[in-house]
Amino acid sequence: MTADPSKHVPSPEGLAEIEQGAGGLAKLTLRCPAGEAEVYLHGAHVTSFVPAGGEELLWCSRKSWFQADKPIRGGVPICFPWFGPHPDDAALPGHGFARVSQWQVDSIDPAGPGLAATLRLEANPCTRSFWDRAFRLVYEVRIQPDGALRLRLTTQNTGSEAFEITEALHTYFGVSDVRQVEITGLAGVEYIDKVDGANRKRQGDEPIRFDRETDRVYLDTQADCVLHDPQGGRVVTVSKDGSNSTVVWNPWTAKAGRMEDFGDDEWPGMVCIETANAHVNAVTLDPGSEHVISTTISDRRYQPV
Ligand code: BG6
Repeated sequence: MTADPSKHVPSPEGLAEIEQGAGGLAKLTLRCPAGEAEVYLHGAHVTSFVPAGGEELLWCSRKSWFQADKPIRGGVPICFPWFGPHPDDAALPGHGFARVSQWQVDSIDPAGPGLAATLRLEANPCTRSFWDRAFRLVYEVRIQPDGALRLRLTTQNTGSEAFEITEALHTYFGVSDVRQVEITGLAGVEYIDKVDGANRKRQGDEPIRFDRETDRVYLDTQADCVLHDPQGGRVVTVSKDGSNSTVVWNPWTAKAGRMEDFGDDEWPGMVCIETANAHVNAVTLDPGSEHVISTTISDRRYQPV
């Protein structure tokens, strides 16, 4: 399916529509009784998810680029095939090229449960200029009938040599004030503290709270996390499969000020809980094999309408 602005795909469960979004980029909207999601074909980037009768769960910067050569700031960037800066070549795009690649919509699945779209990215001359490997990515964005959003990324090795990847579904959540929220689920887990010389530390029994720049890669954890935002009246569950790392990030004041596509005053309103495989949790794929990483996000206080 191409980015035909007039494309409407009616289904018993809802409607999928591709139209021009910000910056003239093609945007797929999925609408069904359980909620509404927006996905830019640029990066297969989910920028919005609102469960029916509920509120926006994701955060997107008002200063985000919406440009074919730049990543969108907010929503759910797909980091692939490397997480963070490239290990050997700083000139290559940070967090890989998937988030700045044009994806294709493969199918809309009205059969349920809920409503889903499947997007695809395959090795092509552009991806090979960054990473000379034969691969296929298949990304399913599903609004579930219970008002949750499930994101499922499959990596297939379509070549004849094994390769290694790191990856993340780099989810930005909107919060009332990051200084008032807590994240539970990572007690006792070891992490790399990227704002303290990449030292290895261990999370205590206390929830994660924010009083400074925070950039941590929690390792060897399959645990679900819960984001508690009492001021915002919200308890968000982030569950995952096929993921052994969880990244927690807020840039705070100075880093927000250094990022061109991030408003100086926006840092209190967001926090990232990223479903990932990073650092020692890199994944090796043999020829012909595949790997699936997925996350499901839901507002626990939300009652399906
Ligand atoms: C997080 C990293 O995943 O992404 C941070 O841990 C980084 O170090 C952040 O600053 C944002 O990255 P980018 O490339 O989107 O600015």
